[in-house]
Formats: sequence, structure tokens, C-alpha cells
Amino acid sequence: VNAAELGLGCWSFGGKGGAPDDGRSQQILAGARREGIVHWDTAQDYGNGHSETVLGRFLADQPGTVFVATKMAYTADRDEVFRQVNASRDRLKVSTIDLFYIHWPRGGIDPAPMVEALEVCRSKGWIGALGVSNFSVAEMKAAARAGTLDYHQMGYNLAWRFPEEDVLPYCLQAGIRVVVYSPLAQGLLTDRGGEPDRWDPADPRRNTVFYRPDLWPTVHGAWEQMRAVAAEADTTLEDLALRWVLSRPGVGTVLVGASSPGQLQAHLGARKRLGQDSAALAALGEISRRLGDQLPRVGNMFEYHP
Ligand SMILES: NC(=O)c1ccc[n+]([C@@H]2O[C@H](COP(=O)([O-])OP(=O)(O)OC[C@H]3O[C@@H](n4cnc5c(N)ncnc54)[C@H](OP(=O)(O)O)[C@@H]3O)[C@@H](O)[C@H]2O)c1
Repeated sequence: VNAAELGLGCWSFGGKGGAPDDGRSQQILAGARREGIVHWDTAQDYGNGHSETVLGRFLADQPGTVFVATKMAYTADRDEVFRQVNASRDRLKVSTIDLFYIHWPRGGIDPAPMVEALEVCRSKGWIGALGVSNFSVAEMKAAARAGTLDYHQMGYNLAWRFPEEDVLPYCLQAGIRVVVYSPLAQGLLTDRGGEPDRWDPADPRRNTVFYRPDLWPTVHGAWEQMRAVAAEADTTLEDLALRWVLSRPGVGTVLVGASSPGQLQAHLGARKRLGQDSAALAALGEISRRLGDQLPRVGNMFEYHP
């Protein structure tokens, strides 16, 4: 069984569909640090720099103790890349950003010029590793012509297994480390995931493909079956869904979102139970395979194509 590391997703610190609660964010960061979760993932886009600022405040007191990754939007403008990388360094209060990603590919546009600019940033010591997120295999190959890709961050979970077809095998073969986001499908793969109305209408989680009116009856049916498997195994769906991703071959880091210190504790508990409940995990795998056959190929679970 593979045993990926847990990383902390810091999207919610930017205020996900509501006002950010910086005090709670600091509590979650302190809890993660205490528990030895050292890979922290943010993006310029999370609260328009606010999530990075929150991390920076924390890191100012504890320099060099964690591995920090951030991301920026695509641009072919070299000077803009330099400006944005430096803006992230300022907000994060670090001289070198451990891992810097291109957040999303830009449809039909060659990523090479931006990768070239990021390689200059690397040579200056402003960034350590270079990554892409949400790229197809063709887009990764185009990017790799201008530099070395160290990481790929992709959405992957029991409800979204398309990366298994090409992106994941390609990364393994090319030696690109795999970081997974949304292991709980943004909250769908939890015991409360069957109630999409609990989210604020402005919350981006309402906009995943899973809650599309034409697909929701199918997804909801699969969610009910998965929940029954978890109940039978005397645990929660979030526990098993997280363990499923952590144990998938080739996955190096799994980013978990947490909106409270309690959720973080639940994730840590799941990580400790890796290797147990193999029959329940296999049953979930079968349900997810059948669900995948009924989902449309829309590229990513947000149907987002900038
Ligand atoms: N590269 C990209 O394009 C991209 C895209 C998405 C995410 N990410 C990164 O990946 C990180 C994780 O992604 P994600 O936020 O989508 O992760 P996720 O783990 O799939 O979903 C997190 C949500 O699930 C719910 N949850 C978490 N633990 C729970 C528990 N124990 N019980 C019940 N519900 C629980 C919480 O919802 P409530 O808040 O409602 O409690 C939480 O906000 C992000 O923070 C971000 O850093 C990157």
C-alpha cells in the first residue's frame, strides 16, 4: 500500500465564499505544524493574496520550518512573472518559495514562455521547485520544452478518477511528483456531502460538476452507496475517501482542506489507519469506477477552462 504524505490546503484561509476568519486559520496552521504536516499549499488566487498573507504572518515567527507551495495565473509576460513571484515572496515572507506552480493552463496557448521566465526565477533563487497544475499530458510536454517540471498538482478522488487514464501514468514515467487536491471532492465525499444546499450560493463548491442538475441524481446514488459502505465499516465516508487517495500508487502528497482544527484531527486519524479496511476500500473503488463511467469528460471537476 502506498502511503502518501498529508499536506495542508490553504484555500479556505482566503475566505472561500465568505469572509476569512484569520484567527481560525492561525489555529489550523499551528495544529498542522504541531502534528508534523509540513507541506502547505496556497495560491495568489485564494482571497486575492490573503491566504499567502496569513501564511506569511505565521512563517515570520517560524522561518524555514515548512515546505511552502504557491501558484499564479498563466501569463506570457516575463516581467509580470517576476513581479508576481516577488509579490508572493513578500506576502509569504520567504526568500525562496519552495514550490511555485502555474495554476491553470491557458486554453491553446503555449506555456513555454512562462516556464522559461520561471526558470530565470529559479536561477535567481526566488523559487526552488517548479510545478504545473491542471495540465493535460500535451500541455505538460509543451511546458517541459522550456524547463524542468518537478511537480504536477491535480484533482483526484473517488468521484474523479480521470487522471488515472493518462496524466498520472505520464507523471510517474517522467519523474514528475504528484500532488493531489480535493481528495474529498470538495466535501462531496463526506457524510454531509449529500446536502449541497448547505453551502452559501457564492461558495465555489456548489459549482463542481457533481452537483450539475443532470448529473446529481447519479452522483447522489453513488454517494449513498459509498456512505453505506463506510457505515458498514463503522467509520465515516471522509475517513475512507481520504485513505483511498493516500494509498493510490504514485501519489506523493495529498492536500486536505480543513475548516476547523477538528477536521484536521480527523485527517490525521485517517492517515494513521492506512492499511486497514481493505474490503471496504475495494468496494468504494468499484462504486467509483461505475460512477466514472457515467461522468462526462469535462477536463476538470470545476469545468473551468481559462
Ligand atoms: N490546483 C488547483 O486548482 C486546486 C483546486 C482545488 C484545491 N486546491 C488545493 O487543495 C486543497 C484541498 O482542496 P479542497 O479544499 O478541495 O479539499 P477537500 O479535502 O476535497 O475538501 C475540503 C472540504 O471538505 C470538508 N471537510 C474536510 N474535512 C472534513 C471532515 N473531516 N468531515 C466533514 N467534512 C470535511 C470541509 O468542508 P466545510 O468547510 O464545509 O466543513 C472542507 O472545506 C485546497 O485548500 C487548495 O490548497 C488546488
